[in-house]
Parts: sequence; structure tokens; C-alpha cells
Amino acid sequence: MISGPPITHSRPTLDAQDARAVAQTVRSGWLAQGARVEAFERKMAAFVGVRGGVAVNSGTAALKLALLAIGVKSGDEVILPSYVCAAPWLAVHQIGATPKLVDIEPDSYAIDPVQAKKALSRRTRAIIVPHLFGLPADLTRLQALHVPLIEDCAQTLGATERGRRVGSVGAAAVCSFYATKLLCTGEGGMLLSRKAVILEKGRVLREYDEEPLLVPGSFNRKMTDLQAALGLCQVRRLRRFLQRRRAIAEIYRKSLKSAEVGLPVVPKGRTHCFYRYVIRLQDGRHSGLEKVMARLDRRGVQCRRPVFRPLHRYLNLKGFPESEEAHRTALSLPIYPSMTDRMVRRVVTVLCEELA
Ligand SMILES: Cc1ncc(COP(=O)(O)O)c(C=O)c1O
Repeated sequence: MISGPPITHSRPTLDAQDARAVAQTVRSGWLAQGARVEAFERKMAAFVGVRGGVAVNSGTAALKLALLAIGVKSGDEVILPSYVCAAPWLAVHQIGATPKLVDIEPDSYAIDPVQAKKALSRRTRAIIVPHLFGLPADLTRLQALHVPLIEDCAQTLGATERGRRVGSVGAAAVCSFYATKLLCTGEGGMLLSRKAVILEKGRVLREYDEEPLLVPGSFNRKMTDLQAALGLCQVRRLRRFLQRRRAIAEIYRKSLKSAEVGLPVVPKGRTHCFYRYVIRLQDGRHSGLEKVMARLDRRGVQCRRPVFRPLHRYLNLKGFPESEEAHRTALSLPIYPSMTDRMVRRVVTVLCEELA
């Protein structure tokens, strides 16, 4: 039996450069939104390949800003998948629009374009497209629906669909910089777009002061320069972070390919950046996700459901078979750039022993 300190499910990747950048900002005396926020917006926009960015204080705030900037209003409908965290549903609901939930595709965990098409109505104003776990959704088939897409890149950056970077395809995109995301600022988010008009509306709605008119949707959603200093430092290392994630995923793939679990599938024409390494336990063969997680936890390996609870379950809605199946069988293994090969091998050994 191998042992060692517990391996947590996720963890930020921080070093002395990050600490220095934040300390320098404190010494500068400029803490609120300023030049560092602007520089971080430029760097993120360049990374994603769009015209610009509007930094805000969370990914949820960025979603709300994207909806408002696109012009979604009370009474409109917005399509989104059930298998995602609560943030997209809350953003739609809070601006008075109606969230229309649809099911996912089983392999990619992303919104199913066929189901999205069935949910279209005359009131549909946007589709929120979360790219889950590091894998792009089927943007090509979603674009064919001719409805503005809001790409939710909270979990996916640098991955591509038919050579196009996630975030650069839809009318708008959003990021989250929560502590354990691909890059972090503690809390934080960003609206990104190739369209000047959306960026301009986003900037107006991000703050409440010094505007010629009172804009009802405006609010204080600003990011601080303290956060942006950390973000700038992190974005410089983002390519390295993503490389390490892919290398860890490759160790998992090679080590688990003969285990009786389903491995992540990367559909043709897409690349994966492995924000999460999500496997499927075989229903019936393995004795329930909760029990497996508890046994792994006792052995010092923290695994999690990749989505806490599908939205249709909160709302007591029926008829989301693929989201249900994912909820029953999907297990997320630890993956983050600071994991050593030894830690990855320990996860594999403990997992295989517990599933035997
Ligand atoms: C897919 C997705 N969208 C939106 C969010 C919301 O981001 P935040 O926690 O920064 O508000 C998250 C955060 O976990 C997420 O995973």
C-alpha cells in the first residue's frame, strides 16, 4: 500500500513571482481598478484572440454582463445545459430572463446542439455554451442555429474547435479566475469579445460612477489592481500550466487505459486542455459514486463530482437522461500543474485498488 500526504482535488499554482507582484501593487498605493486591470484585459484578449476584455469580480458577474451587453431582457429566453454549475442559471434568472435547460452530449459533457435547436423559440435571445472540463463544445453546430452564443470559458482556455480558440467564436465569452481555475486571481472574471459594441456596453455596466446618465443595469462589478497583478503574473505562465495539465492527462490515459473505467473522449477537430480529468465509473460494476469517493478520501485521494448537481435536479425537472447519467457515473480526479508524476501515479494506484 502506498501512502503520502493527502492529494487534494484542486489547488492554485502560486509561486514567489505571484507574491512579489501583489506586494509591489500594495507598495504602489494603487489598489482599485487601474493600469494593471487594463494590462490584464489586453493580455487575456490576446491569449483568446479577440478585440478586448472587461475584467470584473467573478465569472458569474461576467455572465450577467455578457447577457446585458448582448441585450437580453426580462421576458427573453436563454438556452443553457442542465449539466453545469448554478452560475449560468442564476445570471439569466437575475436579469429577469427565462433559462431554458437542455441536455448534454454524453462524450463531451457539452450542450447538445440537437436539443438546443429543439428549445429555440421566437423569444430565444442567446445560448450559453459552457466548455466543460477543458473540452470545447461543438461550436460549429451551435453557430448554425444563428443565435448569439455566450461561450463560458470558466473551465477551458487555449483549447480549440476546428482550429479556433475557445472564446473567439461566440458574440461574447466569459472567464472565471476563481482560486482553483486554470489561472487565478482569488476571485475574478472577464467578459471578452471581438465586438467593440459589446465591450463598450460591458464597460459602462461594470461601474456606476461618472456616467452622463443613470444606467439601470450598472453596478459595481470591478476587479482590483491587486487581483490583476496576480492575473498578469499567472497569464504569463498559462501556456506552461496547460502543458503540464496535458502531460498529467497523458499519464492518466496511459495508466488507466486497461482499467474498467471510461476515459475522456476528445471528439475529432477539438483539443482538450484538461482543467478536469473526468472518468466514468461503470454503472453496476462500481458500487456508487459516493461510496467510491469516500473510500478514495480515506486513502488520501480527494476526488469529486465534476458538477455538484445538474440544474434540472434543483428544479425537479424530468427528461435529462445524459445529464442524469453523467451525475451518476462521472468522477473527477486531481489534476493541477503543481502535481508531481509521483502524485499522479499514487492517484492511479489507489483508484485501481479501490475499484478492483
Ligand atoms: C462553467 C462555469 N461557469 C461559471 C462559473 C462561475 O464563476 P465564478 O465562480 O468566478 O463566479 C464557474 C465557476 O465555477 C464555472 O465552472
